[in-house]
Amino acid sequence: MKTVTVFGGSGFVGRYVVQKLAKAGWRVKVAVRYPLETKSLKPMGNIGQIAPVGVSILDYNEVLGAIQGSQAVINLVGILFERGQQTFEKVHIHGADNVARACKEAKVKRLIHMSALGADTDSPSQYAWSKGAGEKHVKKYFSNVTIIRPSVIFGPEDDFFNRFASMAVYSPCLPAVGGGETKFQPVYVCDVAEFIVRCLDDPSTKGKVYELGGPEVYTLREIMEYTLDTIGKNRLLVPLPFAVARFMGLFGQYLPKPPVTPDQVTLLKKDNILGPRAKGLQALGVRPTHLETVVPGYLARYR
Ligand SMILES: NC(=O)c1ccc[n+]([C@@H]2O[C@H](COP(=O)([O-])OP(=O)(O)OC[C@H]3O[C@@H](n4cnc5c(N)ncnc54)[C@H](OP(=O)(O)O)[C@@H]3O)[C@@H](O)[C@H]2O)c1
Repeated sequence: MKTVTVFGGSGFVGRYVVQKLAKAGWRVKVAVRYPLETKSLKPMGNIGQIAPVGVSILDYNEVLGAIQGSQAVINLVGILFERGQQTFEKVHIHGADNVARACKEAKVKRLIHMSALGADTDSPSQYAWSKGAGEKHVKKYFSNVTIIRPSVIFGPEDDFFNRFASMAVYSPCLPAVGGGETKFQPVYVCDVAEFIVRCLDDPSTKGKVYELGGPEVYTLREIMEYTLDTIGKNRLLVPLPFAVARFMGLFGQYLPKPPVTPDQVTLLKKDNILGPRAKGLQALGVRPTHLETVVPGYLARYR
């Protein structure tokens, strides 16, 4: 049985990837800092097929140990805001560097690296800058890496539709940052996971960059209106200028789960949609799922 190590396998995207890998017959090592939190993953495979490994991506020797014996490695580790040791630079650059360097040393055949749409070393956003720099570091050690850049990902455990819906439950109004004009191309988590698993079996994906988006482009305002409509709530959408949102983010960023950070406000100034010549889900025959077929199901609990 072929073995794959999945860094970040306990996260939102990781759980779907692990499940699909197990179904496809892979033995899966789930490399995360808190392996006890992967208990729910084990029943997704046969006995012994899914094995948690305690690893910080920031420690090269631990990373190297976790990939020993694996033919393939998938790095899904990422953060949306910084906390203590978990900075963008450390996680998205040094962590990614550790994984690629270890893959080279251990002669791993395939590496899939999860980046993000908008990754760019010239970006004023620290998140997008570090994702761009991470890609460069990974390519330096592993030129055949397959890089995945998704737009915002939706699914039952997402932090996007769920966030707007839960805000609407308690608040009489919702803030539309920058007037809600930023465009997104939300992509379904199962489609992203399916695409990643297909990459492993398709040598033509080596050394390529794929941008993944759903079938439709929406503005932030349209997404918020759709969420409110779906959960049957009538709430005021209040346009919030970027400068005001950034100011609020300066204080909010220290909350355990920040509603918005100054860096996220910077990110919102740029549309998050696929380029005109992007190789998307269809490149590997994955048909993009319309959000209307999935989102109402998991937002029903907010009605
Ligand atoms: N969700 C989206 O809308 C979206 C959009 C574009 C790109 N992405 C990218 O897709 C990837 C997966 O996103 P996600 O939404 O699934 O994130 P997530 O739910 O926050 O999961 C992150 C995973 O990374 C692990 N992790 C964090 N720090 C680590 C460290 N130092 N060492 C080892 N593991 C660590 C976490 O496990 P522990 O905390 O247990 O270690 C967790 O398994 C990320 O790279 C993200 O940037 C996501």
